[in-house]
Parts: sequence; C-alpha cells; structure tokens
Amino acid sequence: MTQQTLFTDCTVATLKSGQPNYGLIEDAAILQRDGLIEWIGPSGVVPLKRSEMDEQSLQGRLVTPALIDCHTHLVFGGNRSKEFEQRLKGVSYEEIASSGGGINSTVEATRAASFDALVSASLRRLDDLISDGVAVVEVKSGYGLTIDDEIRMLQVARKLEELRPVKIVTTWLAAHAVPPAFKGRADTYIDHIVIPGLVRAANEGLVDAVDGFCETIAFTSGQIERVFQAAGSLGLPVKLHAEQLSDQKGALLAARYSALSADHLAYLSATDVEAFASAGTVAVLLPGAFYTLKETKLPPVAALRHHNVDIAIATDCNPGSSPISSILTAMNMACTEFALTPEEALAGTTRCAAKALGLSGQYGEITIGARAELAVWDVEHPSELSYWLGGSPLHKRISHGIAA
Ligand code: NIG
Ligand code: FE
Repeated sequence: MTQQTLFTDCTVATLKSGQPNYGLIEDAAILQRDGLIEWIGPSGVVPLKRSEMDEQSLQGRLVTPALIDCHTHLVFGGNRSKEFEQRLKGVSYEEIASSGGGINSTVEATRAASFDALVSASLRRLDDLISDGVAVVEVKSGYGLTIDDEIRMLQVARKLEELRPVKIVTTWLAAHAVPPAFKGRADTYIDHIVIPGLVRAANEGLVDAVDGFCETIAFTSGQIERVFQAAGSLGLPVKLHAEQLSDQKGALLAARYSALSADHLAYLSATDVEAFASAGTVAVLLPGAFYTLKETKLPPVAALRHHNVDIAIATDCNPGSSPISSILTAMNMACTEFALTPEEALAGTTRCAAKALGLSGQYGEITIGARAELAVWDVEHPSELSYWLGGSPLHKRISHGIAA
C-alpha cells in the first residue's frame, strides 16, 4: 500500500544546488510517498487534494535534509587519551606514529576486541551522530591491517546498518599504515594484504569505495596509485587522505583517478587547486583533526571557492586525530577555523557530502525524487546549526518518510 505524508507548517532549507540562501522556503510543505520526496513548495500551492493525505504539522520548525558524515573511522577498539597527554607535552603526532604508537596502537586494540565489543563501542558513536540529525555515515576500515581484521571491521560497519535507521557506506582503507609485521616493506604489504584483501572484501560485497593515506608516515603516491588501479579494475570509486601533514601531491593523484573526494587538504597548494578542480572531486575538510592536532596550516578555502570546488565537512571520528562524534561540532569548527560560512558548512554536510559518497540526488537535498531523509530542528534559522556548540537542537529525524 502506498504510504504518503504531507508535512506542513515548516520552513524548509532544501540545500538544492544553485539556489541562494540555503534554498529556503518559508511556510512550506513537503509531500513524501513511499520514502521519496514527491513534491516540495509553498504550502498554499500543494498540487493534490489535501483531504486525501495523511497530514502532519511540524509546528513552525526548520527542516533540512538529514545530515551526512562522509568521512569517519567509527569502528575501532580502545582509545588514545595517553597520546593526547603526550602531545600536550610537546610530542608530535608524527613522532608518536614513528615510535610505534598512533594508528598502530589502535590496530592492536581493534584486533584484540571481539566483534560484539566493536559493535557496541561503534554504536555509541553512531548514536551521537544520529542525535545530531545524521542519516548517512561513511565508515572506513584501516585498524585491522590483516585481510581478516580489515574484513571484520567492514562486517561490523555493515552490522550497524541493521541496528539503526541509517545508511552506512563502507570504505576499504587497508592502506592506512604499514603494520609492524611489514615494517620497511610497504610495497610487499600493498601486494600481499591491501590488494588481495580488497579483492576478497569486494567479492563479499563489503566495499563501497577505496581510500588510502598518502603521507610520509604512511604510503607514497606511487603505492597509492597501485591500490587505485586495483580499485578501478573492480569498478570501485576511490578517495584519498591527502595533504594532511605535508604536500605529497595526493590530491592531484586523486583527481587523475576521478576520485569521489580528497580529504584533509591543509597542505594542498593554491596553485594546484585549478588542476584539482577540473576532476569534479569533492574537497572534504576535517576541522576536528585540524583542531585536535593544533594544526596551523589552513586548507586553501579561497582557491577552492574560486574554482567552484564542492566542499564537504566531516567529523573524521577516530581515536587519534579527531575523537569527535558530533557533526554539528565539526560544522561549527569549519566556520571558526576555516572561515566557511554557515551555509557552506551546511551544504558541506548535506549536498556536497552526498556527492563525496556518490549519492548525489538521493541524499543531501530536499528535491523531487530524493529520499525522504529529513532532520527537523528546534531552531529558527539554518545558521544556528553551525552556531550552537555543545548540544543538539534536533527535534526529530524523519527516515524513509516516517519519524525515526
Ligand atoms: O584521518 N590521517 C589518517 N587517518 C586518520 C587518523 C587516524 C588515527 O590517528 O588513528 C585521519 O586523521
Ligand atoms: Fe581520516
């Protein structure tokens, strides 16, 4: 049976591409049918007979597309608060990584945790995101670093989707760090673990995209390129942790492979932005990592704007560089640290984040044919979503057309 609802008495920020001022419609109505947006417009001109529909007043609230966190490492064991203490005493993130800590310490804790323990630790963080109005979460592997442990992380990620009304998008990130067993043999690690593991995980339907960490403490662009070629032969899209701590020209490599996104980008040089822009790759900025690692090198926001690069914002939720499970906090940080406007920050966690996950038109915009994945807020204006810090003004989420 068709399930149809007319949501009325609301202000809607559609976030539709090309529309000014958040795509704001005052005194709006939204018609959803079977979980898809059927119509959106001013409430005075609803095209169907209102008596034939289930009508629900949103009592003057603001409606936006449900939010999207397009870059997380949500599944991990343990935490790294000891490294937080070390960094406050002056030891750098790179020094900790090079002395066996960093990503590899989370690898140990993740391997040691049971499947159920990983699910319950990850669920807590997922629930934080959901309470901020999030409906789509990207989750990376990258703390297993053996074929079985990487696959297990993605199985945990898929399990989360069964337990909560969210969409989980999975990413193969075995090229995250060279594990101790392969120390000094990064190429062998790529050949024996990263690529064959990817083939197996893809065959098991566990992979939506492929990522890598292109950095002096991780992999060279040549090594990443081999992973991208393997992804290409499996028909999987790629993305990259690029230019987080130094300029390795990773963003240009990502662009050459028509990556969905290049992420971090603090060290992307303004002069490389033009070449980067031509690929249509989304720039994902991660202000939580910038904040936590007390970085000072800012991503080239003005050049990205100038070349019309779509900018997304994500939490980068992980135990090392960004122990943050609030997308609204990430939006606030993007404004205060990177001088994004609140409108850019909201586009960055809706329309542009959807593009970064290959989900344009389905999520992240309130437009005809998109999924009826909505967030209803106790605020008057969408700029408040980037303004309040430390609490969530979410009233409720609507998922597949019904309250979630
Ligand atoms: O996006 N840069 C690489 N990966 C993560 C950090 C992972 C970690 O420190 O555990 C990031 O910042
Ligand atoms: Fe990351």
